[in-house]
Amino acid sequence: MGPQSQIMVLFGASGDLARRKILPALYNLAHDALLPERFAVVGYARSDGDDASFRDQARDAVRQFSRRPLDEERWRRFARLLFYVPGSYDDPGGFGALHERLARVDEQDGTGGRRLYYCATPPAVFPTIVRRLDESGPHPDARIVLEKPIGRDLTSARSLQDGVRAVFDERQVFRIDHYLGKETVQNILVFRFANPLIEQIWDRQAIDHVQVTVAEPIGLEGRGSYYDNAGALRDMVQNHLLQVLSLLTMERPGSLADEAIRDAKSMLLGTVRPLAPEDVVRGQYTWGVVEGHEAPAYRDEPGVAGSSTTETYAAVRAWVDNERWGGVPFLLRAGKRLPRRTTEVVAQLRDTSTLEQLFTETGAERRCNSVALQLQPEPGITVDFRAKQPGHGVSVQTVSMHFSYGAAFMVEPPEAYERLIADAMAGDRTLFVREDEVERAWEIVAPVLEVPGPAFPYPAGTWGPSAADGLLPPGRKWHLR
Ligand code: NDP
Ligand code: BG6
Repeated sequence: MGPQSQIMVLFGASGDLARRKILPALYNLAHDALLPERFAVVGYARSDGDDASFRDQARDAVRQFSRRPLDEERWRRFARLLFYVPGSYDDPGGFGALHERLARVDEQDGTGGRRLYYCATPPAVFPTIVRRLDESGPHPDARIVLEKPIGRDLTSARSLQDGVRAVFDERQVFRIDHYLGKETVQNILVFRFANPLIEQIWDRQAIDHVQVTVAEPIGLEGRGSYYDNAGALRDMVQNHLLQVLSLLTMERPGSLADEAIRDAKSMLLGTVRPLAPEDVVRGQYTWGVVEGHEAPAYRDEPGVAGSSTTETYAAVRAWVDNERWGGVPFLLRAGKRLPRRTTEVVAQLRDTSTLEQLFTETGAERRCNSVALQLQPEPGITVDFRAKQPGHGVSVQTVSMHFSYGAAFMVEPPEAYERLIADAMAGDRTLFVREDEVERAWEIVAPVLEVPGPAFPYPAGTWGPSAADGLLPPGRKWHLR
């Protein structure tokens, strides 16, 4: 049975997220017949517009960003589901017009009064949206989707959550961290718990350190005013990177039920030590060349203050203080304007071999066994191990064994947003973040947000400031550099 009839109310419908992710995801869900039988999207934003102009914008968005090319016939059917109401968040009148329109759509399209409120505005606007909804409440037949980051620190996150709780029950709240919607991120648990080969080495006895890198060649894509108030620690580390860390390190959940997985992640986050200032290196990009194109300095980007010290790169050394992981450093880094797009986890094994007693190792540097999960853009898993070099004598060299998702499964996985929107419409919270996880994640990053440090300059198109090398254990190197 598909999800129940409903209307998605898309706040911030004129924005970047709506254009790049949400509207293309909805088009693909329509293509796969995964939308409710009776469904509509009512966009709401301050920009002027009407149904026709919203449909035009959506068409452009689908043409540009959908994983499937736009098909005219399918598009015509999909476009009929889209409506737009312009209005502000400060003025209750705007929401009056919105609710009138929603009632009319219900009447015409049989969407049954159910709502999925999707907050795709900058996070500072979420509390006002919730307040406006409260004024028009109660909302027993509604769900609310909140984008990350939830708040900009622990206090604002708590205050937002209090506001949300006054209107919605936790069952109705869907906090998105779109990394959890990625197939390859979901595969982390399968990789760990379905393979004895991995499960047996997944602890401090065997693992020396773990690196998680989210590298992006893009800059701000017109999001300067949001980003300059956020920075990489709030935009990436507090949410995506800590979620990936929790999946990498959590204990086996009792089951795959949503609360079992969320309990296991939450318990793990409780053991992550709050970051100390010496565990963080920040960077900010200067002019450079990325993927063959010149890129302006961060401070010259539209919407960014000329004297901004906001970090566009953050590397942190996290510690998980429990029996399994005590003493193993987890190096997490995220940056804009890095040389290429890649998201990768590398677990480096301890070098306990007595290699030199028996063999000579060739190659520029000694490399021990490692397991690398390439999460995007070309998903795969690579295991590095040592092998005998052909020829006389016994010289060993590190070689790689590679698995590619594309080659093995020959299917194109759905985009993260397709999965998450479908789950929110169906009320499945497994891949959404619970309130306590959000709060704990803020507690982990709080000490470094409270003490701003220097943002070392790095030229666009490089792997970030060299100061980040100092976070690694002695003698180790960044896997991508
Ligand atoms: P945008 O800056 O594009 O904002 C979205 C829309 O919100 C704008 O089009 C604007 O519409 C409205 N808006 C902007 N500022 C204000 C304001 N001060 N008051 C009221 N409305 C405002 O943001 P994004 O779309 O990039 O991001 C939206 C949310 O999604 C954020 O929480 C972000 O962290 C999250 N996100 C974004 C991703 C992305 O790739 N863009 C990816 C993952 C999460 P109008 O002026 O017409 O009202
Ligand atoms: C978003 C951040 O949450 O994730 C963006 O706000 C970032 O700054 C994006 O570009 C990265 O997502 P992905 O799916 O492209 O790795």
